[in-house]
Amino acid sequence: MNDWTEPGAVLPQPTHKQAAVLTTSSATRRWYQPNTPMVDWTGRRVWLIGASSGIGLACAQALRAAGAQVTVSARHPQQVQAWATQDAGVRWLPLDVTRVVDVQAAAREVLASGPLDLVVYCAGYYKAQRATAFDLNQMLQHNEVNYQGALHVLDAVLPGMLAQQQGHISLISSVAGWAGLPNGLAYGPTKAAMTNLAETLYVDLQDQGIGVSVVHPGFVATPLTAQNEFEMPALITPAKAANEMLRGWARGQFDIHFPRRFTLWLKLLKLLPYRLYFPLVRRFTGL
Ligand SMILES: NC(=O)c1ccc[n+]([C@@H]2O[C@H](COP(=O)([O-])OP(=O)(O)OC[C@H]3O[C@@H](n4cnc5c(N)ncnc54)[C@H](OP(=O)(O)O)[C@@H]3O)[C@@H](O)[C@H]2O)c1
Repeated sequence: MNDWTEPGAVLPQPTHKQAAVLTTSSATRRWYQPNTPMVDWTGRRVWLIGASSGIGLACAQALRAAGAQVTVSARHPQQVQAWATQDAGVRWLPLDVTRVVDVQAAAREVLASGPLDLVVYCAGYYKAQRATAFDLNQMLQHNEVNYQGALHVLDAVLPGMLAQQQGHISLISSVAGWAGLPNGLAYGPTKAAMTNLAETLYVDLQDQGIGVSVVHPGFVATPLTAQNEFEMPALITPAKAANEMLRGWARGQFDIHFPRRFTLWLKLLKLLPYRLYFPLVRRFTGL
């Protein structure tokens, strides 16, 4: 099923649930909250990288609908440019995350108009691969987009955030990074690295006034998953994924995972000893 946002789509308004979260949560960090809740998006400056489609684009639309000023980056402008032309609160800034010089130049441009409240790294690449058909180029391509690109972005934005002691970094990882799964030979390790990167960033930045969160989506209907030939369990739309992310940020969460009817089972599965984990994965996936 392909259910991503079409070009020229009308801006979504916040859902009732989302609006409730946005208006009722307190922006003060409580002892049980890893991050300061991000509640009021009015005038907040957000840079979404890898947001020309799917989850990133839906998230940019939801944040804009909530009042944020969004800068959207990726390589292909088709789904964003018309929107950016019509709305002064949206900026299209083309970027290939694998090119460190381009990332630095783009960051300079974004930061020239002021500090960022939130940077969301959404860029992702996925092709199914198994060890029986090992493809080094594909392995490295996943690493370049999914992991190294995030390092390029951190290199460009962290010094400014540290100097100002403010901002929040959110990295989109995946449930595929929690434990090894069939077809995930190239993708899974990059997402495991992303999760570990976010955890370690949190440890280092918690006293620096900088928030850090990691997003672990289950299956979302986007161009990335359109290639899957199996029926994806608990599949959700990009708009639903974006709502979950806004809710997670509003609650000050570190680990934002959804849909819970799927991710909670996977969290349980990864706690099992390997002698149980491997046979259960084979049983559920048939691979
Ligand atoms: N869909 C799911 O079920 C699912 C589940 C778990 C995690 N995720 C993660 O969610 C994130 C968003 O993926 P999605 O599902 O929304 O798929 P998507 O619609 O294909 O989005 C991927 C985004 O990454 C951008 N991108 C790819 N290579 C890039 C590059 N070299 N430089 C800049 N941008 C680049 C793409 O834009 P351009 O091609 O225009 O550059 C696109 O905007 C990814 O990190 C993905 O791994 C998705």
